[in-house]
Amino acid sequence: MTRLVIAADAKPDLVITDTNNALEIAEQLRAIGCRFEQWTASASLADDADQAAVLAAYNSDVTRLNELEGFTTVDVVRMRRTSETDAEWAEKVTGGRNKFLAEHTHDDDEVRFFVEGSGAFYLRANNKVHIVVCQAGDLLGFPAGMTHWFDMGTNPGFCAIRFFHDPNGWVGNFTGDDIATRFSTYDELVGVAKALR
Ligand SMILES: [Fe+2]
Repeated sequence: MTRLVIAADAKPDLVITDTNNALEIAEQLRAIGCRFEQWTASASLADDADQAAVLAAYNSDVTRLNELEGFTTVDVVRMRRTSETDAEWAEKVTGGRNKFLAEHTHDDDEVRFFVEGSGAFYLRANNKVHIVVCQAGDLLGFPAGMTHWFDMGTNPGFCAIRFFHDPNGWVGNFTGDDIATRFSTYDELVGVAKALR
């Protein structure tokens, strides 16, 4: 279930809000300039569905948002164990998870529509960290320059469509702040990490 936890950035244990209510989540995130919506993500995707297949399955949603927001590029990120050996999967997970596990910003908005599985975004604004555990069906967007990090967990399973105004603006600018190490990980937030199998 989608969850929003808000805590003081200087005191991760000082939880201000902890809710599964989608309307409240949208309201809290709107207050810091973010978009949160719940769409339908009911297309069944084959184990080996590639980017084209995922985009085709959600073509009407993608087209609608592109027309509304002027996104010029979309792509798909999918972390799902299929035929990898244990060593291959471990390497893929470590590389994928560590990539954006430290606090960073981008020069473009970051917009994600989860169509499978889940992952946790940590958005830092107004001296608070807003932890959004996104599930399939959740659309989360936050503006360029917002400090954040992302944890897919140690046993990830998710698929998200990514929307860009400018793919070149989506390089991570790392802040060097180790704040991410002081907050609950995705695994801790969900109890047990569940992979899509
Ligand atoms: Fe990011």
